[in-house]
Amino acid sequence: MDTVVSGIRPTGNLHLGNYFGALRNFIKMQNENNCYFFIADYHSLTTHPTPADLHGNVKSVLIDYLAAGLNPEKATLYLQSDLPETAELYLFLNMNAYLGELERVTSFKDKARTQPDNINAGLLTYPTLMAADIIIHRAHKVPVGKDQEQHLEMTRTFANRFNRLYNVEYFPEPVAYNFGEELVKIPGLDGSTKMGKSEGEGNAIFLNDDAEVIRKKIMRAVTDSGPTQPNQPKSQPIENIFALMKALSKPETLAFFEEEYNNCRVRYGDMKKQLAEDVIAFTQPFRDKIKEIGSDDNYLQKVVKLGRDKAHESASKTIREVREIIGFKPF
Ligand code: TRP
Repeated sequence: MDTVVSGIRPTGNLHLGNYFGALRNFIKMQNENNCYFFIADYHSLTTHPTPADLHGNVKSVLIDYLAAGLNPEKATLYLQSDLPETAELYLFLNMNAYLGELERVTSFKDKARTQPDNINAGLLTYPTLMAADIIIHRAHKVPVGKDQEQHLEMTRTFANRFNRLYNVEYFPEPVAYNFGEELVKIPGLDGSTKMGKSEGEGNAIFLNDDAEVIRKKIMRAVTDSGPTQPNQPKSQPIENIFALMKALSKPETLAFFEEEYNNCRVRYGDMKKQLAEDVIAFTQPFRDKIKEIGSDDNYLQKVVKLGRDKAHESASKTIREVREIIGFKPF
């Protein structure tokens, strides 16, 4: 059975794009692999959150993931900061990570450009911390998107370097877990091709948005002035509305509006009304679960403790062996 590790950025509430992207696949993966999913709260310190923001974001991401179906009995679901072994391995890896290679990482260069007054060492060594997250469990697979490929390449470099330096075959080379066809890309409501929270208020539908908010956002979604001839190619904003319907509505509903569009009879107002009701029905179970879990601190405490214990079991073994390999031997 493969060991899988992935980190989740604690950036507030989840939207439908997150759900149809990584989250749904995490839920599938937990049945077939030895999965470690953690909330990357150490990493989030690179942007200097306040204590209240840090805790609030971690909590809401944890609640959303549980509500959406991550099962803490199947996967090991933990907080990165509950595993100080990660920080120790990060220290070891940093001794063999070179300034030149760290400075060349695209995400570092981007951050250095966008936040020139906060180019801290944590930002520079983001890839060594991420490598430590992964190899602390000696993972084989990492389910990440294209934007993380370079970080994963660095992880392989650091793992191999450790093996070579100490002449051991200790760390496996982790590879990207590719979802391929199973990834459904959810477009934004603003006519752009991607749903994301940084794209602005109203672009994304969050799992915890209530029915009224969902109706409002969808009714305001960007459309065009309508087709003027049969079978006219769709503009991007209209493609988007159809893509959302394809992901969330019944096939008959989609077929009906396709037909209406192709015959120039489509009324976008009606279409959006239908889409809104379908989105509300689809997300209702999430809202119910979020409410239930969010008000049950006892349950959350149990989940976090279970995750911490399971993660610790795996990580403490790695750290013990790594210390031996490096030469920190018990007297
Ligand atoms: N860098 C990842 C992101 O921005 C989050 C992350 C941190 C991660 N550590 C990880 C992902 C380890 C996979 C494995 O999304």
